[in-house]
Parts: sequence; C-alpha cells; structure tokens
Amino acid sequence: METLAYFLLSFCLSAFIYVFYRRSRYRGLRIPPGSLGLPLIGETLQLISAYKSENPEPFMDERIKRFGLVFTSHVLGEPTVFSADPETNRFILQNEGRLFDCDYPSSISNLLGKHSLLLMKGALHKRMHSLTMSFANYSIIKDHLLVHMDRLIRFNLNSWSDRVFLLDEAKKITFDLTMKQLMSVDPGEWTESLRKEYILLIDGFFTVPFFSTTYRRAIKARTKVAEALGLVVRERRKEGEVGMGKKDMLAALLGAEDGFSDDQIVDFFVALLVAGYETTSIIMTLAVKFLTENPLALAQVKEEHDQIRLKKGESEAIEWSEYKSMHFTQCVINETLRMANIIGGIFRRAMTDINIKGYTIPKGWKVFASFRAVHLDNDHFKDARTFNPWRWQNSSGTCPPNVFTPFGGGPRLCPGYELARVELSVFIHYVVTHVSWVPAEKDKLIYFPTTRTLKRYPIIVCPRNRAQDN
Ligand code: HEM
Repeated sequence: METLAYFLLSFCLSAFIYVFYRRSRYRGLRIPPGSLGLPLIGETLQLISAYKSENPEPFMDERIKRFGLVFTSHVLGEPTVFSADPETNRFILQNEGRLFDCDYPSSISNLLGKHSLLLMKGALHKRMHSLTMSFANYSIIKDHLLVHMDRLIRFNLNSWSDRVFLLDEAKKITFDLTMKQLMSVDPGEWTESLRKEYILLIDGFFTVPFFSTTYRRAIKARTKVAEALGLVVRERRKEGEVGMGKKDMLAALLGAEDGFSDDQIVDFFVALLVAGYETTSIIMTLAVKFLTENPLALAQVKEEHDQIRLKKGESEAIEWSEYKSMHFTQCVINETLRMANIIGGIFRRAMTDINIKGYTIPKGWKVFASFRAVHLDNDHFKDARTFNPWRWQNSSGTCPPNVFTPFGGGPRLCPGYELARVELSVFIHYVVTHVSWVPAEKDKLIYFPTTRTLKRYPIIVCPRNRAQDN
C-alpha cells in the first residue's frame, strides 16, 4: 500500500514538473495549434489505436479538421509538429541538414548499423547518396539490371502453383534482385538462408524494443546477416582485379579512391536491403490487389502488356523501350503509391527555432511531414480515397512536384525511385501476361505498424492462356 502511494506521489510530481517545464519553455513562442495530450504519453495511444483501424488517416483527419494543416501533438515521448501541407513538407525536405536533421531512435540505429546511409549526415551523406543514385540510375538499369530483373522475376513466377502468398513471393523477388545488384549473387541456398535471418532483422523495425524477444532476435539476426555479407566482401577484396570486373555496387565500393572498410560496406548494404525490400514488395502486392478489385483497370493493363508480348517471342526479355511504352502501367503504379503510401511521411528534428507559416517550431522538436495526408486530400486529388489510375493520364504538369512525394525529396530523395518503378513494371508485365488469378480469401489493407495486407494476399493462380482470353 505504502509503495503504491509512493508511486502515485512520484508520478504526480513528475507530471507536474513536466507540464510546468513544458509551458514555461515555450510561453513566448507561437507554436502551431494542437494538443499535447496527457503528461509523458501525450497522444501516443490515440495515434496507435487510430492506425489499427481500417481508415488510412484517422489521426491526421481528426486533427486537421480541428487545428488546420499544421498542428502540434505529443507522440512517442516527444512534442511533434505534424504537417499535411505540401509547401511545409517541401520546406522540411529541402532544408534537410540545414534546419532539420534526420534522427532515428537508438533501437533503429542499432539495427541499421552506424555506417548506414540512412544515418549519415553532411558531406559523407551527400557523397554516399550520389554514389547510390549512380548505381540505380536509368543507364545502369537499362544496360545492366533490367535483364537480371526480367530473368529473376520470370524464374520466381515459374515456381507459382495453386495457392501462393503474393506478398511472400514479391519479397523473395525484391531480395534476390537486391542481392544481384549489390554483389552479383544469384538466388540459391545461400541467399535463402540469408533471407531467413534478414526477415528476423526486418521484424525488429516494427516492434517496440523494450523487453521484446522479437527485437533481441532481430539484433542477433543482424549480426548473422553482417557476418555473411562481410564474408563476401572479404572474398571479393581478395579477388582484387577479378572481382572489380563485376558490374555491381560492391565493385564500385571496393574500387573507390578513398576506400571503404568492410564494416562500412556491410552497413551500407544492410541499409539498401532494408530500404528497398518492404517498400517495393508491398507496392507490388497492392498493385495486383487494386487491379483485382478494378476489372476495368486490369483489362487495360492486360491489353497494354499483351500488345508488348505479341511483338516478341515468349522467352525474350523486356527491353528498355518496352518499359518506356508502359504508359497505363505507370498510372497504376502512381495510383498504388498514392493510395498505399508505404512511407506515410518522414520524421525530422528541428536544429534551431524555425519560423514557418506564422508559427515557430522550437529547436529540438520533432516534425512529421505527412505524405499520406497530402496524397489523400480531396483538395489535391479528386475523390482522393478512390483508386483511379486514369487520373494520371495526361496529368503531366497538373500535379505540382511537392504534392505527390511517395519517394520523398531534397537531399534524401529515395535513390531507388527509378529502380523500384522498373521492378514494379516488369513484375506487373509477367503477372498479367503469364498467370490468371483470383483471391484465395478475403484480405484487407491495414496501416499498423506498417501498410500491408493482413493475410499476405493469398491468391489461387494458374497459367494464363492468352490466345484463349483474346
Ligand atoms: C516503392 C518503393 C519505394 C518507396 C515508396 C521508397 C520511398 C522512400 C522514401 C520516401 C525515402 C525518403 C526517406 C527520408 O527522407 O527519410 C526513401 C529513402 C531511401 N530509399 Fe527508397 N523507396 C522505395 C524503394 C527503394 C529501393 C528499391 C531502394 C534501393 C536502392 C531504396 C533505397 C533507399 C535509400 C537507401 C534511402 C535513404 C536515402 C537517404 O537517407 O539518403 N528505396 N525511400
């Protein structure tokens, strides 16, 4: 009883000190309107429970209605300014490293590794970001990666029979493609066992770290993944000139003038694996799901891809010019990126007091630039919560660049944006031309802890007979 009284007294005292400090520190500043919620936990519980619902944007919707497009809340232990305003989002993205800084909790940095691109700052970040871009740019994809993409996607699709979980297959594909791009390794037993560890590592990103076995398992898996990748790096270093002949990212890093250590290369690779894996594979799955639910759009996509296949042999790979001719497919990809918002927004930390739209964001506060809130706003996209790929036809110039930002922007613009689009297009090509499918059971989109389908989208597949269909 005495202990309970002591606990309650300490809690009330801490809460009082906290509220007092909070009020006095910011009294002179015009902070964006909003509510800081309860002492210490703020509005974290409202945030979590909102995203557990089937509505994609309840937390933001409710507060935008009350406070406007830029508002203050208190989540995950910190006061945070949320923005659903495209101009403010652009300002945040463009001022990365000057007014705002990237800031991940230590639980995430430990999984990424200290040399991860996602954690780098300043000149080193600039250099590594442009190196990554140079390895996923259009000429590398066109001249080197496209042919592997085609082969690996086809190889995976050939193993589909009866019932498959589309999300699992898409994940296998994206993992294999990344391994090829990074270190020229083809799928086999080694990649499969690495992928199993890697899945455990990824789980760690979506769990609360305290007292969590999932998190502890993820840290162990990270060590194993790093060891396995490190082994390949060392072997290739030994190969010297021979290994440099390979056209992959490892050759570029080993051949770089000022040299990278094995640890730097491994952390860098883990970041690329993490950044491209969930994102691309979930968009692959959702593109198929949305098409399944929109027979008109599916028919139009099939028509586009059947036309491409009609002009070439069954076993011939997709060429760059054919990828460029997939106009309606690009509309489907844009619409899937818009509706699904795998990266719903980005967190940054204010490096100084920042004035924006007549308000001040105090130094040290977090900001969240919500891409999803902009993408799902009827002011920017008519009937924004309806899947409508046709909205992208002839839309060049009508959608300002700061309104549609599925790949972010500024110095941290996703270096894999073109690669992801090509992967998605080739994947859609083979799915619609080679198989017919129906959902094996009802599955639904969920938004917590990340956007995905609840049951990994199980489908029943059979080979498609195009001649009979047409
Ligand atoms: C549909 C697929 C994808 C989406 C929606 C996506 C989205 C994003 C977004 C929004 C960011 C910005 C994060 C920030 O500003 O903090 C980002 C960063 C990043 N993405 Fe992607 N991404 C995708 C695929 C890929 C792929 C295939 C790769 C592999 C090359 C990749 C590699 C990265 C890396 C390394 C970063 C960190 C960049 C930095 O911090 O400088 N992404 N991505």
